[in-house]
Order: sequence, then structure tokens, then C-alpha cells
Amino acid sequence: MKITVVGAGNVGATCADVLAYKEIANEIVVVDIKEGLAEGKALDIRQKSPINLYDSRTIGVTNDYSKTEGSDVVVITSGLPRKPGMSRDDLIETNAGIVKSVTENVVAHSPNAIIIVVSNPLDVMTYQAHLVSKFPRTRVMGMAGILDTARYRAFLAEALNVSPKDIQAMIMGGHGDTMVPLPRYTTVSGIPVTDLIDKETLDAIVERTKFGGGELVKLMGTSAWYAPGSAAAQMAEAIVRDQRRVFPVCVQLQGEYGIDNCYLGTPVVLGRNGIEKIIELDLNDEEMALLKKSEGHVREVMAVLEKLG
Ligand code: NAI
Ligand code: 2OP
Repeated sequence: MKITVVGAGNVGATCADVLAYKEIANEIVVVDIKEGLAEGKALDIRQKSPINLYDSRTIGVTNDYSKTEGSDVVVITSGLPRKPGMSRDDLIETNAGIVKSVTENVVAHSPNAIIIVVSNPLDVMTYQAHLVSKFPRTRVMGMAGILDTARYRAFLAEALNVSPKDIQAMIMGGHGDTMVPLPRYTTVSGIPVTDLIDKETLDAIVERTKFGGGELVKLMGTSAWYAPGSAAAQMAEAIVRDQRRVFPVCVQLQGEYGIDNCYLGTPVVLGRNGIEKIIELDLNDEEMALLKKSEGHVREVMAVLEKLG
């Protein structure tokens, strides 16, 4: 299996590292426009292999897509990250152009690839990759839900003083402040979370999760990478190993939840063909209202993309 990661910055390099040490693909190609950066990060990852004992081969290239030829999965992380005071949406103008040119190169060299977009604003950059690639929705998806849900699960594990391994949860909607955490679909080894935690604490965790990305930007002056890179690698793993994992993934809705032609996070089954199935939850009125609000926000950013042409 061959996986390309575009962008050798914080998220891309972390993703490539996880792909390599977990031997998710035997061939990993990292691409960046900054001369030498991808080559250097790939060399560093290769030099870690005798220590951490893996034999996947990672190479880095500067904008040379011929080396990405025939990739099974391409993870797009290229683009500006947020700085303090910026929202993900402020990145649209620059990142839309980057995602466009990268996607054109990806399609030219890997016409059968499955694309996982990470660049922000996530939902609309995934839509951009879909528009440019003209790939079916099963093969163009965005990473956000695994990250947002991981933050929520980590906060819950801390509050309950239990292992994060035992927290299962689902977050739907866009990758932004309007995301829709679903306590009704949150369990601790099958026990409804509401049986174990008081409403006030749970509400506070839900709010902290919605602004989880911003919390890290405030602390570090740029956005997160360990959890985002690992989350993207986990999606690639589900695909190349045909695991049929059930994950929240940003995908184009075509009538599901009464929403048409909008990229939003929803639970899916992820396997060798990409999105194997979209799972339509039976949301209650309150949850559906939150999802529609999130859709409204994503559509506003889609309109900005359309204006940019
Ligand atoms: P970074 O600045 O560390 O890395 C971005 C890399 O993209 C740089 O090395 C840059 O040279 C490269 N790049 C720019 N234009 C390129 C092009 N045309 N072709 C190839 N490479 C190009 O940024 P970081 O932290 O890795 O974040 C990357 C993106 O991921 C940002 O847009 C950020 O907002 C987004 N992000 C999304 C998350 C999500 O949950 N979906 C989570 C974390 C970050
Ligand atoms: C995050 O949620 C900024 O989207 C990025 O960390």
C-alpha cells in the first residue's frame, strides 16, 4: 500500500510518522513546497525505524508529484494553520488555492486514490477537493470528527477518572464552534455517560470540546498536531486495512438528515472503498436543530468559496 501526505508541517509530519511506525503502509511519500522540508522530515522518520522497529519506507519530495504516482490514499494537510485570534474560516482564501492546486496534482498522478482532507476550514476544503477532483463522495472525505470526539473523550476520561479507551462517543456537524457533540450517543463501556456524570459537568465538557481547537491555539500560538495527525492516520489505516471502522467523518450529505450537497461530519463505515456506508442516526428535535445550525454555518463558508470562484 502507498500513502501520500501532502504538507510536511506539524500535522503532515505527525501523520507520516504514525503511518510509518504503525506500518500502516509500506510506502509513504511526504510532499511539501518548502525546499528540503519533506525530505528532512522523511529522513528523520526513517532514522527512527531501527529504534522503534518498523520497516515502512518514508520518502520526502519538494513538489514532485511523480513520486506519489499510484497512491492508494492521499492525506492533504497543506495550508496555513490558525494563529491566535483567527477562526478556521479566516484561512479560506489562501487554503482554497492551495487545496485546489494540490488536488489537481493528486488526481493527475493517483486517479484512483481516496482523499482525506485535513486543511482548514475543514468542511469547505473537503468540498473544494471534491469539486476539483470530481471524485465520488465515497473517495473524498475530511478529518475532524475523530479529533473532536477524541478531545471530548479525553475530557470525559479525566472527569470520570477512567481510561480514555473506555469512552465511546459521537460528534456530528461542522468542524467549528457549531459542532454537535451527542451525549445521548456517549457511553463508558456501554454505560450511558449521563448515568455517571452530572449535567453541569457534562455541559461544561461539551462546551470545552466545541472550543477545543481554540484552547490549543491560545496555548501554543498555532494549532494542534499530535491528535490531528494521529486522527488522519487512523482514517488512512481503516481504509488500507479495510477495517470497516465506524468513525465520525466529514462527508458530502446527499439527502441524509434532510441535508443536500453539504459536507458535514456524520458517522460512517470506513473501509477499502472509502466511505462504505453513511449511518443516519435518529436524531431528536434538539440534536437536529443543532445539526441544521451547523449546516447553516458551513453553507456560509461554502458561499465564500463560491465567491472566490
Ligand atoms: P504547518 O504550517 O505546520 O504545515 C503546513 C505545511 O503545508 C507547510 O509545511 C507548508 O510549507 C505546506 N504547504 C503550503 N502550501 C503547500 C502546497 N501548495 N503544497 C504542499 N505543501 C504546502 O500547519 P499544520 O499545523 O500542519 O496545519 C496544516 C493545516 O491543517 C492547517 O490548515 C490547519 O488549520 C489544519 N488543521 C486541521 C485540523 C482538523 O481537525 N481538520 C486539525 C489541525 C490542523
Ligand atoms: C483544531 O481543531 C485548528 O482545526 C484545528 O485543532
